[in-house]
Amino acid sequence: MSFFFFSFFVTLLFTFSLTSFARQPSAPAPLPAPLRNVTWGQLNFLHTTDTHGWLAGHLQEPSYAADWGDYVSFASRMREKADTQGADLLVIDTGDRVEGNGLYDSSEPKGVYISDVLRHQHIDLLSSGNHELYKENTSQAEFFTTVPNFRGNYLASNIDIIHPTTQEPVPLAPRYKKFTTKNQGIRIVAFGFLFDFTKNANNTIVRPVEDTIKEDWFQEAIRDKDVDLFLVIGHVPVHSKEYNAIFKEIRSTRWDTPIQFFGGHYHIRDFARYDSKAYGLASGRFMETIGFMSIDGLSTSHQRIKPALTTPNFHRMYIDNNLLSFYHHTGLDEETFHTDHGQKVSRLIHQSRNALQLDEIYGCAPRDLWMSRVRYTSDESVYSWLEKQVLPQSLRDDSRVGKPALVIVNTGAIRFDIFKGPFTRDTTYIVSPFTSGFRYIKDIPYEKAKLVVEVLNKQPQILTDLHSPAGPVGMLTPPEQSAYPHDLIADSGVNTAFPADQAPLLSSSQFTDDLIPGYTTIDDAGTDGDDTVHKPISFYRVPNCIQSLVSTDAVTNPASVDLVYIDFIESYVALAAKYAGLNVDFTRDADVYMPSTSFTGLIQDWIKENWTCDHETS
Ligand SMILES: *[C@@H]1O[C@H](CO)[C@@H](O)[C@H](O)[C@H]1NC(C)=O
Ligand SMILES: *[C@@H]1O[C@H](CO)[C@@H](O)[C@H](O)[C@H]1NC(C)=O
Ligand SMILES: *[C@@H]1O[C@H](CO)[C@@H](O)[C@H](O)[C@H]1NC(C)=O
Ligand SMILES: *[C@@H]1O[C@H](CO)[C@@H](O)[C@H](O)[C@H]1NC(C)=O
Repeated sequence: MSFFFFSFFVTLLFTFSLTSFARQPSAPAPLPAPLRNVTWGQLNFLHTTDTHGWLAGHLQEPSYAADWGDYVSFASRMREKADTQGADLLVIDTGDRVEGNGLYDSSEPKGVYISDVLRHQHIDLLSSGNHELYKENTSQAEFFTTVPNFRGNYLASNIDIIHPTTQEPVPLAPRYKKFTTKNQGIRIVAFGFLFDFTKNANNTIVRPVEDTIKEDWFQEAIRDKDVDLFLVIGHVPVHSKEYNAIFKEIRSTRWDTPIQFFGGHYHIRDFARYDSKAYGLASGRFMETIGFMSIDGLSTSHQRIKPALTTPNFHRMYIDNNLLSFYHHTGLDEETFHTDHGQKVSRLIHQSRNALQLDEIYGCAPRDLWMSRVRYTSDESVYSWLEKQVLPQSLRDDSRVGKPALVIVNTGAIRFDIFKGPFTRDTTYIVSPFTSGFRYIKDIPYEKAKLVVEVLNKQPQILTDLHSPAGPVGMLTPPEQSAYPHDLIADSGVNTAFPADQAPLLSSSQFTDDLIPGYTTIDDAGTDGDDTVHKPISFYRVPNCIQSLVSTDAVTNPASVDLVYIDFIESYVALAAKYAGLNVDFTRDADVYMPSTSFTGLIQDWIKENWTCDHETS
């Protein structure tokens, strides 16, 4: 081969591997922004949670456009960096890996591509979320595929599964594990919890955390004297009654041993201080955030004598999931950062997306539609669009022709914003991954039907006994909102994921027009947790439920209506109906509305009809 051809070939190869398989080919390039540095310690962690299938990264948002392959490279490079310093690095994932993205939901069976991609990351400890347990076959796939793929690293402190062949309950995975880190010799006892979840399918058993920590095995584990750190990972909010209970239980026998928690479920960046030696990190959602944590000043097995009673230093950082952040924290660049393995994983994701035809376009959104960045009554609100256009124009049941309907949809049925531009098969799963359909009760006085919605929206305390972990409204609204008590967030715009009465996060002089809008987190350690300095995004509260009156002849005040609702919220609607004075037996009187049409399918059909790709329609 002549030199020219050889170098041409090499250049081609190189260009191909760099441009095509660093992040997904259709993902936008990251934008430069001021970056803070991570603080390394003896023991360091990378953490993901609530990834919900977003292993391809965000294809419409440059700040979060790195994919799982890039994360594989990042973890390898960070591990190399730790090794050269004689430090340790552990990689953690705390569940809800399933449901919420075409890469998971659009395959049959669901999840076959995701589990194949996921296993390429070396994860030291992982646990199950609630989404792994909603359906019988999802937890079985977890038991037969993900647990073995990460054998020894998957922990299930409070989950049992009915074994599909023996029909006997067995632990989904080991309850806990003790291990010693490779470089520092730090002795760790680790647990993996799920919050007190009750909506699981009946083939799994979730023991309440508060009961689990009284069990013998847990009591023995926390009495082990040769422990330098208790590590509690789990799909549990870091500010929660469950983690407080675990903290107190460990402290009651180990008043001094450092404890590190990793949590999730609320989809937010958060950091909790339990005491001066116990902290918890929550690392957001949807592959937007790679959480970084370091601890320095731990005792180790290499020391004969425990160090004097010093307090270790804990540092946290929320890393935006994009290549510029990854280059920054590894000190590498586009030529030196990527590993062969990482690029192979990016290629695997690309092939999987192609096989699933996730880029198939159903229509083009003429503008952005937001969940919480605008007031919910605004024309730019996805809920307002559903209320005024999609639901009234699409909802009708052949057996109820001419009957007006009042339809109730919980705001949590929508999971993500819609961006102007192509709306694809993938977008459908991202915006509305649930398979729920509609049910109804016929001929309800309209006045009473309206009252049901009022109860659902204004009287959340009535529903208290129905749902604990995320609070009574937790299951109805998007999870991000559950993180804050109802009265803390006003209906006016407040800072990203933070209560209205908080001080600004950064001095206003730092908000130049050059900054990209994004996370500006305030947590128990202050305002310097985000690696990227962003301009804040406004956040508005949404109601628990939206409603739409659907009536063919434009009657605005019918005498009676069919009360239609998403089947997922039937128990709430039934309870609210009782409080509204309706004497209805839902188990007897409720029936399927629009058989074989799901909420997601209804949105998808409307988009195919109405959003052509010439950007002219609205
Ligand atoms: C981050 O670390 C780099 C390399 O050590 C240093 O040059 C830079 O000033 C640091 N940046 C900040 C914001 O501390
Ligand atoms: C579970 O069953 C449903 C319905 O048959 C199917 O669509 C889905 O792919 C299955 N999921 C898994 C993880 O096997
Ligand atoms: C679990 O639920 C299924 C249907 O959802 C039902 O057929 C089965 O009998 C239930 N099993 C137990 C042990 O309750
Ligand atoms: C959407 O399409 C349907 C069916 O063609 C039509 O009735 C409706 O008016 C359209 N909506 C908008 C907002 O264009």
